Amino acid sequence: MIRPRVFVTRRLPEPVMERIREHYELIQEPGETPLSLEALRNGARDADAMIPLLSESIDDRLLAGAPRLKIVANYAVGYNNIDIAAAQRRGIAITNTPDVLTDATADLAWALLFAVARRIPEGHTLVSSGQWTGWGPTQLLGGDISGQTLGIIGMGRIGRAVAERATGFRMSVCYTAVRPPQGSLDPTWRRVSLDDLLGTADFLSLHVPLTPETRHLIGARELARMRPSAYLINTARGPVIDEAALVDALNDRRLAGAALDVYEQEPTLHPGLIHCPNVVLLPHLGSATMRTRVRMGTICLENIEAVLHGRPAPNRVA
Ligand code: DGY
Repeated sequence: MIRPRVFVTRRLPEPVMERIREHYELIQEPGETPLSLEALRNGARDADAMIPLLSESIDDRLLAGAPRLKIVANYAVGYNNIDIAAAQRRGIAITNTPDVLTDATADLAWALLFAVARRIPEGHTLVSSGQWTGWGPTQLLGGDISGQTLGIIGMGRIGRAVAERATGFRMSVCYTAVRPPQGSLDPTWRRVSLDDLLGTADFLSLHVPLTPETRHLIGARELARMRPSAYLINTARGPVIDEAALVDALNDRRLAGAALDVYEQEPTLHPGLIHCPNVVLLPHLGSATMRTRVRMGTICLENIEAVLHGRPAPNRVA
């Protein structure tokens, strides 16, 4: 029996790879390193379906050179790496992996919030480097978390999950959202304008997709409106923040700190970022738990199976 050909651009967790090998022919055995643009295009050429990463550009040229391709099952909830219009013109289905990574990403946003406010990486370095000389009344003083105001930009699935976690810390929640949030929200959460949010939040956490409208949503003007005691947390997409403006704000101490999981040009960082005071930097780990990554792979396969069997894809975004 001829099995559909699937192009998997990077090795996925083993339970997902096993399932792929069982049902499909792999275009090539995926490795652990990023593919060049050329390798990406070559891999897509004879594929019926492909599973790319959020860091891989699925552009018009790649799609034009892949005549058999019926579905791009993006291994991410965000799909800003895909030329949606080009896929639509060719009738290629685009799917994503919503819901399954909401908790993992919301948990990580909180991990970053704690890390930056309570200076956890600095404390770890002090102790593990052997330079700690003992308890000190002014040592590594951070910011309070309990009872403070959490500002959420983007009240979608992940924004809401981050806000829900604030209850245990008796925090007030304010948010902005372009579209009215779905379902009922905690009545104590206040929807405010972006400018109000910037001026009120002690912690500002970003949860918007990357679109032309959200690129550099947080730039010099917005950073200037934030309180100097406030912290900025980004687990969404790097280009939502103007990194150069953030570096200036941190260096000038116009912000208490920033904790980032995502960057404008991943994996390259703005050169000033690593030297900034009170910055916590992670390598895009939002969804990085074993269970979540397996579930993301499972969703990709469910969507591929549906499309290749002529059924509607459960997570079709275009
Ligand atoms: C996504 O799925 O968009 C996340 O950024 C992956 O961690």
